[in-house]
Amino acid sequence: MTNLNDKGTALVTGASSGLGAIYADRLAKAGYDLILVARNVGRLRETADRLATETNRTVDVIAADLTKPAELAKVEDRLRQTPRHLDAGQQRGLRRRRAASRLGYRQDDADD
Ligand SMILES: NC(=O)c1ccc[n+]([C@@H]2O[C@H](COP(=O)([O-])OP(=O)(O)OC[C@H]3O[C@@H](n4cnc5c(N)ncnc54)[C@H](OP(=O)(O)O)[C@@H]3O)[C@@H](O)[C@H]2O)c1
Repeated sequence: MTNLNDKGTALVTGASSGLGAIYADRLAKAGYDLILVARNVGRLRETADRLATETNRTVDVIAADLTKPAELAKVEDRLRQTPRHLDAGQQRGLRRRRAASRLGYRQDDADD
């Protein structure tokens, strides 16, 4: 059965402190599963474990230094394997298209 609270997966960089940690917290509480990225895997795992416990979402981590092309490529590979890595704006667009389709409108009519 489809879980209506399952909004897909959000990738948050710099997720173990500062603004990234705030985004991660808010997205998990809004129903997104998360992939968290930063360099220090210990701090990342602490953040991931706390958010998973508090929100019951799936929270994965990727330890990567985004200034290093090879490590950035790891993150890109992971995104390619994640079927629904949509941002909130894209989610709204998809919901509009699905609703329009159910009502018999062409998908293009629902774009705005
Ligand atoms: N804080 C503010 O008030 C503010 C205001 C305006 C703009 N900004 C901008 O917003 C961004 C975030 O700022 P922030 O203060 O929230 O925190 P920050 O100190 O820039 O970022 C902290 C987070 O990013 C990770 N990180 C740092 N370098 C990384 C790298 N090379 N690769 C991967 N992860 C890395 C850190 O974990 P690790 O150390 O484990 O990698 C940590 O999770 C910055 O670009 C900042 O200039 C911040």
